[in-house]
Amino acid sequence: MSLAAPYDALFSGVIGKEYDFLKLICPAAPEMSRRVGVKLAELASQQSRPMWVLELGGGTGITTLSILLADERLTLLSVDNEPTMQRQAQQSLQQWVEDGRLSFSGDDALTALQALPADSVDVIASAYTVHNFAAAYRRQVISEMFRVLKPGGHFVNGDRYALDDIVAHTRATQHEIAAYFKVLTAMQRLDVLEHWILHLFNDESENHIMREAVAIQQMAEAGFTRIELHSRLEVNALLTAVKPLSL
Ligand SMILES: C[S@@+](CC[C@H](N)C(=O)[O-])C[C@H]1O[C@@H](n2cnc3c(N)ncnc32)[C@H](O)[C@@H]1O
Repeated sequence: MSLAAPYDALFSGVIGKEYDFLKLICPAAPEMSRRVGVKLAELASQQSRPMWVLELGGGTGITTLSILLADERLTLLSVDNEPTMQRQAQQSLQQWVEDGRLSFSGDDALTALQALPADSVDVIASAYTVHNFAAAYRRQVISEMFRVLKPGGHFVNGDRYALDDIVAHTRATQHEIAAYFKVLTAMQRLDVLEHWILHLFNDESENHIMREAVAIQQMAEAGFTRIELHSRLEVNALLTAVKPLSL
């Protein structure tokens, strides 16, 4: 790895090519995508008209599929700036593209949001993406999400929300690492193990970690209301928030 391609979230390398291993080492990850879909289904059932959904960090398409299956009337723009990941989604979800329900953008999340008009999107949905953002970038993304959501629009995010109790968070992360070792050494995939450990250092670094109370406060400062963090599974949780009807 050179300075031109430094260690970061690493989705272009082994992690991107072997992303399916995440289901084995961290079963909470597909479960949070499933819960994003359940929430979208609930929101769609309350709407009489089709929903226009923006997904940030579609990756290989696990969350994308969960969103698409939530309601057959919704249409989705899935954004991801890592071609190694997005190509897999484009292949497996081709049918939905042909049906006119799914389109892709290869922009990064902030650029994609900045290109959208204000008050234009019903729901912004995401899983395991926002925690990868550096703090300053995340703050800009949250502010842009607020701008592009319609009044009454929802943000639904299943993600790594670090526990406010730092000792408990460290323990939970240690359990997580132990599971990575157990599964990936048994499968003799030390290459994948190495990259997920490197990735985890990025997640836990001071300029990335998305701690629960700070995350909720940031959402409130951006103007969101009804901010709720629920469905917690160790270091993972579902955050929902609403742009108020009148500002
Ligand atoms: C851990 S994967 C999650 C994928 C999928 N949502 C899931 O849960 O399986 C995170 C994805 O976010 C994408 N990503 C990271 N930073 C991004 C950014 N700034 N803009 C757009 N996508 C980004 C990565 O390329 C990666 O595909």
